Order: sequence, then C-alpha cells, then structure tokens
Amino acid sequence: MKQEHVWYGGDYNPEQWPRDVWDEDVRLMGEAGVNLVSLGIFAWARLEPREGEFDFEWLDTIVAKLHDAGISVDLATATASPPPWLTNTYPDVLPVTEDGVRLQVGSRQHYCPSSPTYRRLASRLVTMLANRYGSHPAVVLWHVNNEYGCHVSHCYCDVSATAFRAWLQAKYGTIESLNDTWGTAFWSQHYSSFDEVRTPSAAPTFRNPAELVDFDRFSSDELLACYRAEVAILRELTPDVPVTTNFMGFFRDADYWAWAREVDMVSDDCYPDPADPESPAYAAMTRDLMRSLRGGDSWLLMEQAPGAVNWRPSNSPKRPGEMRGYSMQAVARGADGVMFFQWRQSAAGAERFHSGMIPHSGTESRIWESVAALGAELPHLHPLIGEGVASKVAIVFEWDSWWAIEQPALPTALSYVQGVFAWYRRLWARNIVVDFVQARDDLSAYSVVIVPSLFSARPSSLANLAEVSRAGHQLVVTFQSGIVDENSRITDGGYLGALKDVLGISVEEFAPFAGADLRRQGAPRPIGSIAGELTGVSDVNTWAEYVRVRDAVTLATFTGGLVDGYPAITRRESESGSGAGWYVATMLGDAALDRLIQRLIDDAGIADFAIDSPDGVEVVHRGDRYFAINHTDQQVSALGQAIPPRGVLITEK
Ligand code: GAL
Repeated sequence: MKQEHVWYGGDYNPEQWPRDVWDEDVRLMGEAGVNLVSLGIFAWARLEPREGEFDFEWLDTIVAKLHDAGISVDLATATASPPPWLTNTYPDVLPVTEDGVRLQVGSRQHYCPSSPTYRRLASRLVTMLANRYGSHPAVVLWHVNNEYGCHVSHCYCDVSATAFRAWLQAKYGTIESLNDTWGTAFWSQHYSSFDEVRTPSAAPTFRNPAELVDFDRFSSDELLACYRAEVAILRELTPDVPVTTNFMGFFRDADYWAWAREVDMVSDDCYPDPADPESPAYAAMTRDLMRSLRGGDSWLLMEQAPGAVNWRPSNSPKRPGEMRGYSMQAVARGADGVMFFQWRQSAAGAERFHSGMIPHSGTESRIWESVAALGAELPHLHPLIGEGVASKVAIVFEWDSWWAIEQPALPTALSYVQGVFAWYRRLWARNIVVDFVQARDDLSAYSVVIVPSLFSARPSSLANLAEVSRAGHQLVVTFQSGIVDENSRITDGGYLGALKDVLGISVEEFAPFAGADLRRQGAPRPIGSIAGELTGVSDVNTWAEYVRVRDAVTLATFTGGLVDGYPAITRRESESGSGAGWYVATMLGDAALDRLIQRLIDDAGIADFAIDSPDGVEVVHRGDRYFAINHTDQQVSALGQAIPPRGVLITEK
C-alpha cells in the first residue's frame, strides 16, 4: 500500500447528525490533523432504506466535502448491520445461538455468516458502492464489514448446519473418514451419512472434541467466506483500491493467520482497559501480533478509544497522556496510522457514553486537546512509514491450539492467551520485541523460539520446531504442548511427539494445581514452588506434571505436593552444542521467568536486543527512532532523559 502520511482519524458516522454539523466536522478534522476517516460502517439502512432502493446522495455529499478538505476515505462496505427490512423479509438470516435462541434485529451483526440471502444482499450493496465510489479520488481504502465475528461468530441454525455438512464433506470426502477422524466409535456417535451431522448445539454433556474444533474452523472459514465474497467484488471493480477489515487483537473466533493473507493491510481495534495494570504489556502484545500477521508489514490501528469505552461494567477514562502513549506504542510496534472509534461522540444509541474525538463537552475539553495535539505530532513520524521492527525472539501462537485447549473435559481449565501473555509480559519488561509465528514457519531467523502450551500440533509442525534446537537456537517448550494432533487425537508416539528427542524428556502424567483457573483475568496466584540452580526457590502456578528425563539436565525441581522431586525445568544441549531444547513443566512465576529469560538471552547472545528501562517504561526501536513510553504515574528517566508521568519520549537514533 502506497502511503504518503501517517494515517490519522477515526470512524465517522455523519448519518447520525444533521447536515449543518457536517461542515463543522470537516473544519474540525482539519484542525485536528485528520487525514483519513472510516465512513459508512453502519449505514446499510441509510444506503438501502428499502430492498433494492438505494440512496447515495448523502454519501456523495459527505465524500465530496471530505475530499475538498483533503481528507481521505476508508470506505466501509456497510454490511456489518443489516437493516430491519432485511431480517423482517428474510427472518432466516437471523443467527441462532448454541442454545437454540434466534437473535433478533435491534442491535447489530444479527446475521448468520452462512446465510446465502445475507451474502447475496451484501454483495449487491458492495457492488453498488464499488461502482459508485471505487474510482473516487478520496477513497484510498476499503473497510470490509466490521469486526467479523465480534458478536456472532458461531451460528447454529439450519442454514449453518447445511453449510457445515458441505464443509465437512469437502474436508473428509467420505463419512467413514469423518468417523475415523472424530473417533465416533466413542459414545455411539457414529454417522451413517453426512446428512446426519448437525451443528454442535447444546447437548447433555461433553461433545466430541474433534467435532468442536472442526466447528471452530468452519465458523472462522464462514466469516472469511463472507469477507472473500465482498473482496472478490472489490478486486474486480476497483483493483487499485486496497482492502482491509478490522481485526480484534487476540480474538478467539477468527484465525487471523488465514485472514491476514487476504487483506492488503492488517488493521486492528484495540481497547486496553485503563484500570488494568497489565494493559500496557497486553496492548504491546497485540501490536506485535498485528505486525507479525503479515510477516512484519506495517499495519493500521483502526480503532481505539480517545477516552473511556462504555461496554465494560465500569469504564475508566484514559488518564492524561495515556491516549498518546498507546498511540505511540502502536506506531513504535509497526503501525503506520492511528485511528479512533469514533470522530464525534454519539448523542443517541447504545454508544452514547463511549468517548469520541469530539466529546459531548465539545472542543473545550482535554480529550479534544489531546486529539489535536496527537494530530500535530504524527506528521513528524512520517519517515517511519513502511519501516519494520527487528526481533530475535519468536513466540508460537496458533488458533488451532487455542480452540483445542479451551474445550471442556481437559485436565484443567487453561487460558491459552494468558499462558502466552505470562511469557510475553516478562520479555516486554526487558523491552524485547517479539514476533509471533506459526510452528510450521521458517524459524531460522530467531535465536529464541518459545512455544507456550501448543496443545494441538501436526506431527510436521513438531518436527519443524525440533529443528530450532538442532540449528543451534534456543527452543523453549512449555507444558501441554504436542498433546493432540490437528484432529484432536492424542499425539502418535506419546505427548510431545517429534519434540521428545530434542527435549530429552517425556511427559508421563498431569497434575494441575487444584483451584488454579487461568481462564479468569489477572495474574494467576502462586500455588506451588520449584527450586534449582537456575531459578532458586520460586513460586509457580497452574500446572505441574510428571516428567521423565531421558537425556537432559534438570535445572529446577518441583518441591512439595504431588510432584515433589520431579523436574520442572529441563535443558538438553543440541548436538551442535550451541542450541538447546528447554522444557518448562509449569507456569513459572515472574521471578523464575526472569531468571530463565536472562539465561536464554545469554545463551542466545542477544543481549543487544534487550534494553534496560525502569519498571513500566517501554522502550522500542523502529527505523531511526527510539520510543520510550512511560506507562507509570511517576516521572522517570529513560534514554538518558527525564520523562514525565505517562509521557512519551521519541529520539532520533
Ligand atoms: C468496536 C466496534 C465499533 C464500536 C467500538 C466501541 O468493537 O468496531 O463500532 O462499537 O467497538 O468500543
């Protein structure tokens, strides 16, 4: 994507306002340095007020006004919220929940992703928009739909059931192959034909795990098929206008590795909770994911809140400086644009109390001042457009494992993302930038590859990971990895499969700590302890297991409890001597993690990629700039200068 300036702006919903406000909007956008707005995201009912009757006059008018003012448009395809006529005329478009409840019109996203009617009517609207605006000089980007799957990702209606059967038939060919893969000999689940298969709605007890993962894959694919249907039209009619759709960070229900291949620029919506002290690190993690999804390409922060949101039980405002801090964090980690939801805070509707760039209090407000100040500052970051961010540390992250590890009827309730975050936040504390990768990727560029709880993996992926250690790098595998294959069947040859040799251990049995529920938010509390040369005596949580060492050195051992004396951290040196396969049989607490990470940095020789900074101060290097972001309420010193509370320092190299 050719880009001349750092994008700055937000969702703009002029249809919520009388026309005399539009001129003021455009004037104030100029004052704030806005150069891009996302237009028409929820405007279907205004664009097509009755079936087949279109009204583009208002959109023509506002696009022209924006263009005259030099503001570019990220034009929405407007398909995220079907108008009332649509679902009144075609009620089977309405989605059905797992419990059989048909969701009704009146909020948004009330469509079954598999509905041919929805796709047909969406396609017609997209065709009209593409024909009418595709060559308009203001339109620089297509904003396809909005946050696919945010509210409705899985639909259990009859239409979905038919689509699921077709998806399964395409995947398995024969019903016997499905029976084999799903293991339907269990509990009398054998199917005689694809016609017998339904969507996995509420059932008396645990469903078939392979069925559930397939339904997760199918559901992500169906949303992606909706996206593809729109994009096919746009590519045909407006081949020069790039397309995006806004992602939602670590969002369970869409496999963004697959999605990212089909956008021209990754874009993300990110709403860190100002009341959660973990938010800066967690937001950094989503930024690193967004940059990684297309192999390091620049991405766009499509939405963030200028102040408070309105959808948490209690909604903290951003403190002074915080909005700038998160914006610069995005740019430092690869974003070439910073956008908001939304331009003007709504006066009516369910988002009245969500902040806007122009708040209810108008321009005499700290929000507006911070918005205008950021708009004046971003042009200085122009030289960073297209610049990458260097990383020597990779974390393996895969949706298949996410889907497989958060099912019921497993040894304990684990949160996949919290397990990943436990590692990420301690790397973040040392200002080590992380690339996220898939286990099957070429990993040769990374000195350290961390594999947190890769529960489900193809044998070939495990073999690829094993190469990391053989090639002389540090491979760190944590508990609950390589437990099942891609079909949810226990890994052939035992847990860890092809990793067993490079780790030099095997896993016999699991012993999760009673009461550890990692699916709850927040840092898990310590439940056990380990001791060893590497870690000293240290708290651990969540998990323990019986590890048998065959050809590795034990560097920390569980102390007390069921697993007393069993290995907690092992290391096996690779044949070449420089690489190693590490195994970590528990969720380490911060103290142990810090010591292990230090050792990995030393062994990998990547000390230059770690930057010292005070706690809560994030330092990132991109292009010719260093960013130091002070997430704390104290004045600190970093990069040799004083930084005020929640301040950001940007220096040229
Ligand atoms: C996003 C959505 C926006 C708006 C925003 C509020 O999920 O894309 O339309 O609802 O949240 O935070």
